Amino acid sequence: MRASHVAIIMDGNGRWAEGRGLPRLEGHRRGTEAARRIALAARDLGLRHLTLFAFSTENWKRPESEVRGLFSLMEQFFAAEAQKLADVGIRIRAIGSMERLSASAKHVIMEAQRITAHASDTVVNVAIDYGGRWDILQAARRLATEAAQGKLDPNGIDEELFASMLSTAGQPDPDLVIRTGGDMRLSNFLLWQSAYSELYVTPVLWPDFTPDHLKEALAEYSRRDRRFGALSGKSIGGEDR
Ligand code: IPE
Ligand code: IPE
Ligand code: MG
Repeated sequence: MRASHVAIIMDGNGRWAEGRGLPRLEGHRRGTEAARRIALAARDLGLRHLTLFAFSTENWKRPESEVRGLFSLMEQFFAAEAQKLADVGIRIRAIGSMERLSASAKHVIMEAQRITAHASDTVVNVAIDYGGRWDILQAARRLATEAAQGKLDPNGIDEELFASMLSTAGQPDPDLVIRTGGDMRLSNFLLWQSAYSELYVTPVLWPDFTPDHLKEALAEYSRRDRRFGALSGKSIGGEDR
């Protein structure tokens, strides 16, 4: 089965730089280039959805200079690339709280979403100030508000309605979650959405991640047996998924 949504925890920028005696920010700069390369590759490979974890709700704990540098790189990226991405059919959607972002960062992100709004080959969700727990909480808050206002019967809250309140509403759950940099954890990424995602961890550091690495991950995905709690398609003689 082919993947339609791939989500990536883009980790290892700092180690990439430190290993070369460079400032961490240089790793982030190279990481931004990798993100551009992989967004284009995802489109070329026919993926309909790509989610890139760019900045977590926990990343605010980093030194102010690193946080500032990261946002400055993101702003430059969106300002320089939005039109080019739109031209090749890539739509940018920012997911995340974004409350704590500067006015200029918010503005550039809104602009990138506006400029790419009509592109329809591939949606690239960029998770900025994103946390899986934040996503679930904001959905719960919205549902609770509607229930308190009498617009919603709490017994009517099912998985479908809940998912429609998440930041990824309307998009399929990720088929595959890739983490670069070798750490075996989700770090508060798409917690609800990745319930049945296949996981793929590679030691390759994000700035070194190439379209060939993405193809390798997709090839591995195509060999997985996704059972979703049922029995294997093979063992019950059903359709091979
Ligand atoms: C990922 O790279 C980028 C962000 C989390 C913003 P890191 O900066 O976490 O790189 P390492 O894990 O320190 O190598
Ligand atoms: C996860 O990486 C977040 C992003 C890639 C944006 P981290 O480097 O923040 O994760 P931990 O701290 O190693 O869990
Ligand atoms: Mg890291």
